[in-house]
Amino acid sequence: MSPTPPGAYRPAADHWGTFTKLSKRLPEGSVAVVDRTVARLHPGLIPALEARNPRAILQLVGGERAKNFETLQKVLAGGLTLPRSGTLVAVGGGTIGDVATVAAHLLKRGVRLVQVPTTLLAAVDSSLGGKGAVDMSVRGAVVKNPVGVFHYADETWICPELYTSLSEVQLREGAIEAWKMAVCLDGDLFRRYSRKPPPLQRLVKDARRLKENVCAQDPYEQTGLRRVLNFGHTFGHVLEGLSRFKLSHGDAVGLGMLCALDVGRLLGVTPQDVAIQVEEALNRGLGILGRDRIAALCKRAALKDVTTLLAADKKAGKAGELRMVLLSAIGAFDIKDVTENDWRTLWPAWTRGILP
Ligand SMILES: NC(=O)c1ccc[n+]([C@@H]2O[C@H](COP(=O)([O-])OP(=O)(O)OC[C@H]3O[C@@H](n4cnc5c(N)ncnc54)[C@H](O)[C@@H]3O)[C@@H](O)[C@H]2O)c1
Ligand SMILES: [Zn+2]
Repeated sequence: MSPTPPGAYRPAADHWGTFTKLSKRLPEGSVAVVDRTVARLHPGLIPALEARNPRAILQLVGGERAKNFETLQKVLAGGLTLPRSGTLVAVGGGTIGDVATVAAHLLKRGVRLVQVPTTLLAAVDSSLGGKGAVDMSVRGAVVKNPVGVFHYADETWICPELYTSLSEVQLREGAIEAWKMAVCLDGDLFRRYSRKPPPLQRLVKDARRLKENVCAQDPYEQTGLRRVLNFGHTFGHVLEGLSRFKLSHGDAVGLGMLCALDVGRLLGVTPQDVAIQVEEALNRGLGILGRDRIAALCKRAALKDVTTLLAADKKAGKAGELRMVLLSAIGAFDIKDVTENDWRTLWPAWTRGILP
């Protein structure tokens, strides 16, 4: 059997431990891309990398603004001397991971990639599943992720000590993405979470197992199965946009899940008792922001802005209908086309912060 080409789908190979211990796995002569903030907060990180005689260590400012061609070019320039068998290591959140994934795909038509997610969101979501992308400025507006690749990591290092410097909001945002997977894909697990929220390491393990299982069945997003990972994202993106990105992505998804429960009930997909149970678990167990935050954002919004934000949603179909992931039970989902008339029915309740 021929070896798997660089970046082609392979099951996640997760290694748990401290960064210092895991860095000993790194082949000599690699190139590392490191979020500068993480390097500052965890001073042992750069010396541990240096001990492996890397070709280069690039420290970059993480954050959405890092996801552009300029940063990509820096990473490519830093990685130019890597041989095809060489390794690029990405140490950072989803933004550093996404840019490094694109770079790993382009360098020598594909080099080895090691992901070291340093945010909870990256650990449970973005470092798994092969996707990398950069944002682009189109006529003055930033478009998210229009240019990207699939390039699966060879290894992922999960270093729990790195998560100790994350803020409460960052931890909640990662947890929201993890609970999102549980509620759609594993009813028993979600009910367990509802009774007692899991410790962080358990949450990471569970989420990675669930996402891996989805990606293994649809590694290149061809069957539509991966859409399930967008639960809560349709109206989540709208709320994120309406807040002018003051609301964190995760918090927006938390509220977006409430909207999806409402749409599900309206269309007869989500049974009433399921919607109530899930909303309560999200409020109490996870501490999502409440419906009053939905109201505060929707009240001030012009409907045409909402329509524009929804149209930009990559899940919108040809006729502008929204393709939404809706819960049919705890642990089961359905994908439905949702019309403007449907969500407009719910709008008055959303602007008042009450259950429709
Ligand atoms: N590829 C995918 O499948 C996928 C999936 C979901 C999200 N994403 C992408 O991920 C990005 C968001 O990821 P993110 O939330 O990790 O963002 P991020 O990389 O911008 O990190 C958020 C902030 O946290 C800081 N940070 C990182 N690690 C830290 C640590 N250990 N302690 C303290 N601060 C730390 C960063 O410097 C940054 O300021 C978005 O661009 C999104 O599009 C990609
Ligand atoms: Zn998300």
